[in-house]
Amino acid sequence: MSAGLYDVIARRRDVRAEFTGEQLDPAVLERLLGAAHAAPSVGHSQPWDFVLVRDPRTRDEFARHVAGEREVYADSLPADRRETFRPIKVEGIRESGLAVVVTYDPDRGGPHVLGRHTIADAGLYSTCLAIQNLWLAATAEGVGVGWVSFYREEFLRDLLGIPERVRPVAWLCLGPVSHLQEVPDLERHGWRERRPLAEAVHHESFRR
Ligand SMILES: Cc1cc2nc3c(=O)[nH]c(=O)nc-3n(C[C@H](O)[C@H](O)[C@H](O)COP(=O)(O)O)c2cc1C
Repeated sequence: MSAGLYDVIARRRDVRAEFTGEQLDPAVLERLLGAAHAAPSVGHSQPWDFVLVRDPRTRDEFARHVAGEREVYADSLPADRRETFRPIKVEGIRESGLAVVVTYDPDRGGPHVLGRHTIADAGLYSTCLAIQNLWLAATAEGVGVGWVSFYREEFLRDLLGIPERVRPVAWLCLGPVSHLQEVPDLERHGWRERRPLAEAVHHESFRR
């Protein structure tokens, strides 16, 4: 029984406002990337890459794009939800000091990836597991991670020189934090509650 792992899973948070702006220790970053790279992957294809973005100008350009997409999203909401959304921070791009952009290359592993002939998305799932490994390892190290998805893939491809076939899966803000919130931001701001586990568990059939 590894209580430490369950503790890390419970403490992990999506971080937006708690980045201190301090530099991340390079040895810690190396361990986090190592944890990500140790993830399981369909056919052992390891379809991920990690683009480290430190340049404040690049982060600023991305932050401006994200701010625009935040507006697009806000405008799509009914008035009451727009009010609830207004104070919610959705990124810490400038404050975090470092981004790890995680990408998915469907061509990695060649045309016959073992186990992917029936489910094309299995490669994408693998990339998400690398992200989760990094997220949990970061939590164990006391480092904050914030996943940003308010972007258009073409924009991020152009910004970072990502080839057309490769999909940017996540912009992860990474850095030292003052503390981790105990309750997810979206719950604290009344956006959405966690579903009871019993609602998510079915027995023998999805209908039950
Ligand atoms: C695929 C994915 C995309 C996400 N995109 C964003 C985002 O753009 N901005 C943000 O603030 N949080 C984002 N999040 C974080 C979620 O809002 C967060 O995980 C959720 O509210 C639960 O909070 P917790 O991670 O602190 O438990 C994303 C999470 C996932 C898994």
